[in-house]
Amino acid sequence: MNSVTTRLLQRIPVQNVLGENALWHPLLQRFYWVDIEAGLLHWLSADLHQVHQLALPERIGSFGVLNVGADAPYQLVLALESGFALFHPHTGALRWLAKPERHIRGNRFNDGRTDRQGRFWAGTMVETPSQPAQAGALYQLNRQGQAVCHLRHIQISNGLCWSLDGRRMYHADSPRHQIWQYEFGSEPASLSQPRLFAEFADNASPDGATVDAEDHVWTALWGTSTVVRLDPQGQVCLTLTLPVSQPSSVALGGEHGDLLFVTTSRLGLDARQLAEQPAAGDVFIYQLSRPLAVAESLCHFEPDWLAEPVCHDMPVL
Ligand code: BGC
Ligand code: CA
Repeated sequence: MNSVTTRLLQRIPVQNVLGENALWHPLLQRFYWVDIEAGLLHWLSADLHQVHQLALPERIGSFGVLNVGADAPYQLVLALESGFALFHPHTGALRWLAKPERHIRGNRFNDGRTDRQGRFWAGTMVETPSQPAQAGALYQLNRQGQAVCHLRHIQISNGLCWSLDGRRMYHADSPRHQIWQYEFGSEPASLSQPRLFAEFADNASPDGATVDAEDHVWTALWGTSTVVRLDPQGQVCLTLTLPVSQPSSVALGGEHGDLLFVTTSRLGLDARQLAEQPAAGDVFIYQLSRPLAVAESLCHFEPDWLAEPVCHDMPVL
């Protein structure tokens, strides 16, 4: 297969503290992302020029899109700082689903994505340790909206994505500088046969990732100013260098499926570093030489209460 080339098309000067969860919305055909630290959901107008934003009730790690009509009470599933919730961005309706780590002070939800079977997954990270051997975990929401734990002993859960056939899951615990690959059993979801997929230098933390139409993995490498594309054997076949050190997540999308979106972060940079990389925290959009986007999976829940009238800030189930 020919190599892919990239050309910077546009930079969106949003100056996010921690831009994350780049996602091309498969129903609305718009680019969405979040600023974790600011607790903001962002999206771009169809012409990619206007930025919209919405404040969320908490900091947000990640989100997925529900497989529902425009009149449904909830449109998104969120992994907010403290747990999972359903949300409607226009009405503000919020329904908590699960807070599996409410007992662990200093952990928060981080990276998440919907699997090929339409179930939302998100992991947590240790932000401020409050107990010995504190760790995060990786959870999947089942069809009833309950959280099922699949991996434990994680420091910073990141990089969730699935191969095109849905039979492999990729995941990174960022401070280990590695991406792992699991055999993925689909019903019920199960992970087995962990295998090291890719290993990076000590300054590179694999962050948000996605799989393209040729079954290659794109991942942001926080700390190295790069986004890489890896073949299914884990070999780097493209390195894209950005003018900022902390790229944080990637999405493929656009009207023709030939755009790469990269979120970035200003988190932890000192005054000198910020002066050297004034675009830190901005969103970068690249034109790819051929379309590579795969539609993001929609999340599907089953309970009757999804059809209930809109209610605000429901208690946890
Ligand atoms: C986390 C950040 C972390 C970064 C690099 C992100 O997903 O939200 O807090 O610094 O990954 O590991
Ligand atoms: Ca991330």
